[in-house]
Amino acid sequence: MPAIVLVGAQWGDEGKGKATDLLGSGVDYVVKFNGGNNAGHTVVIEKNGKREKYALHLLPSGILSPNCVPVIGNGVVIDLGVLFEEIDGLEARGVDTSKLIVSSNAHLIADYHRTLDKVTERFLGKRRIGTTGRGIGPTYADKMNRVGIRVQDLYDEGILRQKVEATLDFKNQVLVKIYNRRAIEVDEVVGELLQYAERLRPMMRDTSLELSRALDRGDTVLFEAGQATLLDVDHGTYPFVTSSNAVSAGACTGSGVPPTRIDSVIAILKAYTTRVGEGPFPTELHDDSGEFLRKTGAEFGTTTGRPRRCGWLDVVIGRYATRINGVTDFVITKLDVLTGLDTVPICVAYDVDGVRHDEMPLGQSDFHHAQPIYEDMPGWWEDISTCRRFDELPANAQAYVLRVEELIGARVSAIGVGPGRDEIIERFPLGRNTDR
Ligand code: GDP
Ligand code: IMO
Ligand code: MG
Repeated sequence: MPAIVLVGAQWGDEGKGKATDLLGSGVDYVVKFNGGNNAGHTVVIEKNGKREKYALHLLPSGILSPNCVPVIGNGVVIDLGVLFEEIDGLEARGVDTSKLIVSSNAHLIADYHRTLDKVTERFLGKRRIGTTGRGIGPTYADKMNRVGIRVQDLYDEGILRQKVEATLDFKNQVLVKIYNRRAIEVDEVVGELLQYAERLRPMMRDTSLELSRALDRGDTVLFEAGQATLLDVDHGTYPFVTSSNAVSAGACTGSGVPPTRIDSVIAILKAYTTRVGEGPFPTELHDDSGEFLRKTGAEFGTTTGRPRRCGWLDVVIGRYATRINGVTDFVITKLDVLTGLDTVPICVAYDVDGVRHDEMPLGQSDFHHAQPIYEDMPGWWEDISTCRRFDELPANAQAYVLRVEELIGARVSAIGVGPGRDEIIERFPLGRNTDR
């Protein structure tokens, strides 16, 4: 199975980092194809008998697998300061980052993007998106507006300066006249970007070409999404989304590898639901059960530290993720967090103003009004973190997984029972399926 796409099925933080890490040893390239340092992936690894935790933002989680080439694709937006801080942090902990390659077409986040992200959110007040404040939206907006700065622009100072001048001409009017902020100097921005140019130069590649050659050789390439299906700018809960394509199709535009070369799509589905930031969330819990999920699941943002909003599993969303991404395998994560509940509700449909919806409603307003219709599954109390085979799980935990599998319409190939690298049950070989 040479080309595998890995996506989040819900609103992010499903455990994509851990799943990538799990596949990492059998993978030759791991490609980040969308988003930037708005992502936060926590990977927990056992090293010399001790649990070590890594929080990755801009680098693909595959960087932790020694033989894997990490790739930052053209669809990513890069904050160079964050990139080198993350590289230095990993090197200081003994992780080799020397294989990293970066697309010459990826766009760069500059200071004015971060500033605009923050002031726009403040300006929106109650209508804010709840962004991570990392400049992601303004950088993608510039890309679409054709005034973005790309990695390759760092190597022609004349062009870089012209582009920064052109974009600041307009942005400074907005910053000064609308947001009452100080104007940003061209030299400041050019200086900020150029300080990283020489360090970045040896990493810069035509990553699309390299990946194409890797696939020709029969190498295994894993495309790791940031964010998730419902945060996708086209298919998510717009406008409460991020500004990139986080669904499986984004792997193609964000890397320059065509759809005909993709072999399988793995979606990561948390056994319950979380969301960070604003926007509709039908199964959100504002009671003790929500607090239980947040505490037991340690649901605090890896990037911003914000408490995550928590709720029961929603399989209307799960089914939607199967369809939009063409999911071949699901990994259900954090099943252990549900241990100790009398009943585990699954949202199987919505009631929207008296009408039952088995699929996502047509309009966003209806989704805001959606009331969950639950099916209650019996709970379990046994510690499942040491289970490594599906039949070792308590009968009720097995029944929960099988019911979810039936409802989402694609097979559940692995189940997470703890944060550690080995705390996983593999029902079917992930990404190496030969039976379809
Ligand atoms: P990502 O953004 O999708 O990579 O997910 P995050 O890393 O932001 O959040 C997932 C969190 O759940 C991390 O802290 C992981 O260490 C943790 N995690 C992943 N899988 C499991 C699991 O099966 N059980 C438990 N208890 N924690 C898990
Ligand atoms: P990972 O990869 C969860 C959310 C933000 C906000 C919205 C837009 O760790 O799953 P942005 O800064 O992207 O413009 O913010 O998207 N968001 C995430 N939520 N996990 C993420 O990434 C997220 N990346 C962005 O909270 O609601
Ligand atoms: Mg995360």
